[in-house]
Amino acid sequence: MSFTPRFPNFLHGGDYNPDQWLDRPDILERDVQLMQEAHVNAVSVGIFSWTLMEPEEGRYEFAWLDEIIDRLWRGGIHVVLATPSGARPVWMAKKYPEVLRVNDRMQRMLYGERHNHCLTSPVYREFVRKIDTALAERYANHPAVILWHLSNEYCGECRCELCQDAWRGWLKRKYGSIERLNHCWWTGFWNLRYTDWGQIDAPTPIGEFSNTSMWVDWRRFNTDQCKSFMMAERDAVQAVNPELNCTANLMEFSWDYDYFDLAEGMDVVSWDFYPKWHSGDDVGTAAYFAMQHDMMRSLKNQPFFIMESTPSQVNWHPTNKLKRPGMHMLSSMQALAHGSQSMMYFQWRKGRGGVETFHGAVVDHDGRNDTQVFQDVTQVGQALEQLQPIYDQHHGQAEVCILMDWENRWAIDYVQAGQLGRMKYMDTIAAHYRCLWEQGVQVDFRDMRECTDMTGYKLVVAPMLFMFRNGIEEKLRRFVETGGTLLMTYFSGLVDEHDLAFLGGTPHGLIDVFGLQNTGLDALYPQDKQHLKLQDGRQFAIQELCALNDHVTAETLGVYSGDYYAGKPCLTRNTYGAGKAYYLAAKLEQAGLQAIYAALSEELRLTAALPDTLPYGVVAVKRGNAIFLQNFSGEPRTVTLSETYTNLLTDGICHGTIEIPVNGVMVLTK
Ligand code: GAL
Repeated sequence: MSFTPRFPNFLHGGDYNPDQWLDRPDILERDVQLMQEAHVNAVSVGIFSWTLMEPEEGRYEFAWLDEIIDRLWRGGIHVVLATPSGARPVWMAKKYPEVLRVNDRMQRMLYGERHNHCLTSPVYREFVRKIDTALAERYANHPAVILWHLSNEYCGECRCELCQDAWRGWLKRKYGSIERLNHCWWTGFWNLRYTDWGQIDAPTPIGEFSNTSMWVDWRRFNTDQCKSFMMAERDAVQAVNPELNCTANLMEFSWDYDYFDLAEGMDVVSWDFYPKWHSGDDVGTAAYFAMQHDMMRSLKNQPFFIMESTPSQVNWHPTNKLKRPGMHMLSSMQALAHGSQSMMYFQWRKGRGGVETFHGAVVDHDGRNDTQVFQDVTQVGQALEQLQPIYDQHHGQAEVCILMDWENRWAIDYVQAGQLGRMKYMDTIAAHYRCLWEQGVQVDFRDMRECTDMTGYKLVVAPMLFMFRNGIEEKLRRFVETGGTLLMTYFSGLVDEHDLAFLGGTPHGLIDVFGLQNTGLDALYPQDKQHLKLQDGRQFAIQELCALNDHVTAETLGVYSGDYYAGKPCLTRNTYGAGKAYYLAAKLEQAGLQAIYAALSEELRLTAALPDTLPYGVVAVKRGNAIFLQNFSGEPRTVTLSETYTNLLTDGICHGTIEIPVNGVMVLTK
């Protein structure tokens, strides 16, 4: 681990906004007592408090925060201290309007809302540097403070003149000459040719919005702007105490920035975990969020924090359902199973006003400690203490790696091909991931950065790897050549890092590795019927996309069932060097993917968390020597264990046939 926890315990707590209650000292006093009762040991403070910290330019007021932090510390509660850059003070916006964003219609936003500031503005950056430095000088060595929470959910973009200038500078550094940019963006198309750097505006719906190479660069540029803004915050606070680690709370698979890049700029990753439980398919929801957890663990290859989650319900899903009995514990344990070192909530106490008045919180407006939610939270706090023996148990490298690349994702989201606007890259990644998760096989995620190394994996999965960058084709070739197994799908290896189509056949650079060449992509209407027919007679439905292949020298494992390409290869396997390269040419129904992964698992002897067969909806996930057995099926389930374990949550012995209740979870060790 490259971060050093200052308080090496699972963190339990959440966003605490005492600044909204400064006129209620009784409530502030009571909060600490209630936190102790709920087994809370850490809270995040100061996220949206800038105006209280700096009521007018250059005048800092920290007495109120001193009191809060000292009171928490006296109560044994640690502090995750936020920098307040997520929402700027009104005086600043009025006096220096350049700190506000310009939207994609080129309108300067008015004061209001959070995340409404320009990440380029030197004025904003300087105000942030000063408040961060002042906070660090005051608190970076306070014994209560264990971690910096940089800003809040960095997101968005701005198109002000400062950003446009920075964008042009970024392009100039990247391409060196305008001719090169014109070539890489293929600007001969629709006469977009630039003759001077100063002519290039950011893509916008009221100007140029069709050039996909430009859009992908715009996303890369925004990632870089955010990363440099975030790292400036990190530098400011760590100049005072380099030992105090920094995190920034991420949001699922956020689209705005490349999280692999952003994660390089923080010591430890944290993220905000808001699953839609009980919306009809908890197994699907669990699979999707297991994938998110594994992605967060993979970003830095180390454990992460859950920085926010709701103890009961959110108020921004279309339907805001309460968690059913057991789900709070199960959901919390799921996060731990995949590498979380915390369970933190938004928020500790419900506020009285604003749009989040009715968002779930540990303490409701009635202030009681005997609510179901308070009890559920307390139980999780107790469980985290019981699980302290596995705090240092971590995931090693998995046997399977899925390539999921943000730049590829953007390129697919911008492309006009196949199913317009519905190419479903992330859904496809999720569908593949789910097959392995159901088998209890650990998965790491990697992208196509230069540092990506596939050594040590048995299986690399590359769903829809449309864009090839940084010589990924050579890495994949070597991986197979030296004995690895690669599974790649349709719509892979079509464009280079500039989003320019490869010449000379696809999948680019791997035609001999797969023993086939792609010659077209067919898109299906929902009523169209197509199937994959395996050699053993099994058939699985194909939807949406079918790639056609030619010059096939690979072994055909399955063919298309219908239409004019009936009998043509759809699933193939090619031996290359010491390894094997599988090519799946079409979008398969889930059962078909499951069949493929069952065969691969057997062939490669992939290790499952538990050696026993589990019923549908019950999954096992291994973290070090602990096995988290989780029941998302919505039904009580029986499981037969071939070995004897202790359930760390109850200290009970588990052996033979056991029952796991609805939303039940066990943490098994030998
Ligand atoms: C998060 C945000 C919190 C709060 C929460 C509500 O995205 O960081 O401040 O708004 O959502 O669920």
